[in-house]
Amino acid sequence: MSQMKLADHANGESLTAELSVSDRKHFLHPSTNPKAQVEFGPKIIFKGGKGIHLKDLKGNTYIDGVSMLWNVNLGHGNKELADASYQQMTELAYASTFYGYANEPTVRLAEKIASLTPGDLNTVFFTSGGSESNDTAFKLSRFYWQLQGYKKKRKIISLRRGYHGVTVAAQRATGIDVYREFSGSTDPDIVNAKAHVTDCELGDKSHPDYEGSIRSIIEKEGKDKIAAVIVEPIQGAGGVHIPPEGYLHAIRNLCNEFDIHLIADEVICGFGRTGKMFGVDHWGIVPDFMSVAKGITSGYAQLGGVVMREHIRDAINEYDAMLAHGFTYSGHPTACAVGLKNIEIIERDGLVENARLLGNVLEKGLHDLEDKYPFFTKGRAKGLLAGFDLMKDPEENVPFDDSVKAAVSIVEECYQRGLLIRPFDFEPGMNIVAIAPPLIINKDEIERIITILDDSVAAFSKRI
Ligand SMILES: Cc1ncc(COP(=O)(O)O)c(C=O)c1O
Repeated sequence: MSQMKLADHANGESLTAELSVSDRKHFLHPSTNPKAQVEFGPKIIFKGGKGIHLKDLKGNTYIDGVSMLWNVNLGHGNKELADASYQQMTELAYASTFYGYANEPTVRLAEKIASLTPGDLNTVFFTSGGSESNDTAFKLSRFYWQLQGYKKKRKIISLRRGYHGVTVAAQRATGIDVYREFSGSTDPDIVNAKAHVTDCELGDKSHPDYEGSIRSIIEKEGKDKIAAVIVEPIQGAGGVHIPPEGYLHAIRNLCNEFDIHLIADEVICGFGRTGKMFGVDHWGIVPDFMSVAKGITSGYAQLGGVVMREHIRDAINEYDAMLAHGFTYSGHPTACAVGLKNIEIIERDGLVENARLLGNVLEKGLHDLEDKYPFFTKGRAKGLLAGFDLMKDPEENVPFDDSVKAAVSIVEECYQRGLLIRPFDFEPGMNIVAIAPPLIINKDEIERIITILDDSVAAFSKRI
């Protein structure tokens, strides 16, 4: 190492040690084990990023194999997004959109989103993120039914393993118990249904999964009590579950049959992640509401939104009093300017198509690992939203003993080799790993991810 590099390294080590002390004392981390955090301090302190790579204070580099939280779709260090933010901040950093105030980037972004979303999803209500978007969709759905005279149409049905965020309503819609039950929140108006039971949703009452399907809940509760069904087109934080063919059509038809709104939570899938602009575009479905966030700005600014169909907007237009819902940062001009530039780059650089093509390469790499390791199974990808399962015996459906911590161990092996990916093991026997790199990734970089994964899985296989 040169003298300068040695000095940088020593500075990085001492800054890491200093920040670690303050972090443990003053910073309560989200979605982190607090006991471990206080004992060991931050796992990585990031300093910078370029493309698919991140750098920490000590000079280590990592491949960002999950786009951080599936959101940094344009990758790190994008100067065009930084410039768009700078330009807007110097012109008008913030302006309220309450009381009928508007500003150009906000209106232009709403117009742009309307041009991209399918069918007549033509009006946007802006928020600061995904949880707020889902809470907003629940409220607007209920408000619509109130305006139509259906005051009891309030319940929201969501799916097991769905993830919709952590505000109180979104948390209850989330079908992952550790979130759903955090701090004892309850809400009898938000219920979970079994996920992806297509035949039941089509009406097969003799099916063993019928009890607990969306259809069975509607029958039990009565359609006059149910406002909306919310689903992710592809479940993300529940473990990258791609629905069986026909499922989303069945749900759309079910909602039509019983006059219930369909909310598509596109917070992960939206803006190209799955190789189409939106997840529902794979199945030609038009939901009544679409929640978006994350990829709308590639994480460069905090922004979300709910897009609604015209009949909903028309009904709301008849309301002649204040719409009593709005966030200080609804339609934040700087965030919207970043969103506009982000979408411009996605379209200009063909990143939706890149996600589709490189998703195929990633999926092939996962299938090759399936052939190599008997416990590596269910490699899957829709665009650059990918995952795989680990099972002791996939053919006999035997999971690993939880003490093996298969998913966590492989993710840790990858981390040691400079690849950040994400494990899911929130149910007994569950060992799923997600991979979702930035949409700007190239073929060599995908192959590098597969090579690191291969080495990591080989190391794990030697220990079991
Ligand atoms: C599908 C989905 N919906 C909603 C959310 C919540 O978004 P936020 O964390 O921006 O509130 C997430 C976050 O991961 C998500 O994956």
